[in-house]
Amino acid sequence: MKKITIAIDGFSSCGKSTMAKDLAREIGYIYIDSGAMYRAVTLYSIENGIFKGNEIDTERLQKEIGNIHISFQLNPSTGRPDTYLNGVNVENKIRSMEVSSRVSPIATLGFVREAMVAQQQVMGNSKGIVMDGRDIGTTVFPDAELKIFVTATPEIRAQRRYDELKAKGQEASFDEILENVKQRDYIDQNREVSPLRKADDALLLDNTTMTISQQKEWLQKQFDKTIKG
Ligand code: DC
Repeated sequence: MKKITIAIDGFSSCGKSTMAKDLAREIGYIYIDSGAMYRAVTLYSIENGIFKGNEIDTERLQKEIGNIHISFQLNPSTGRPDTYLNGVNVENKIRSMEVSSRVSPIATLGFVREAMVAQQQVMGNSKGIVMDGRDIGTTVFPDAELKIFVTATPEIRAQRRYDELKAKGQEASFDEILENVKQRDYIDQNREVSPLRKADDALLLDNTTMTISQQKEWLQKQFDKTIKG
């Protein structure tokens, strides 16, 4: 059967990754979480003193961006890919509030985006890939055969992230998370390079009142339709 490219974009914490991972597993495609790549660059910057307070030493980051190698390896116990930064598993670290609250300004830097987009395009060379993010259908894979744009209210998205952190035993404040979600929406939509927007040919999915299994069913249907042409 012919393999296609699937681009899933949308707002933060709206369940894109869950949908994308589940679909990829179901249909035997590779799943790439492009947000994890921007998070890994952010973690690198935190751990290597590239943040001076809230300021980013862009000159240093630009010099070092070529040394930041991000890869994904399937974790057999979760059945999902973990993110590796220069060979070290950083899957848990990149989901912390510290990284979440610092990732947007890193993701607005043109040279960071260029480096990540180039890596993402190589990963998608042989199709059979589901990638989620903000600019996958518009910039990374503008020719993707199936494009989805996911949205939900900020409150429901904050609640989902709160539940996720709590389940992992991490400290979390709902108000802080909601503020972070709103801030990231603003930055994602208003940045100069590759702002978050729905590609003209993307299908819109508002999952505010949908369960995970309803979403899953909807996505599988869109995939089947696309494959049948
Ligand atoms: O999806 P996420 O919350 O893990 O994304 C982390 C950050 O990276 C978020 O602020 C948006 C940014 N991002 C981006 O700019 N482009 C992408 N393709 C994916 C994520």
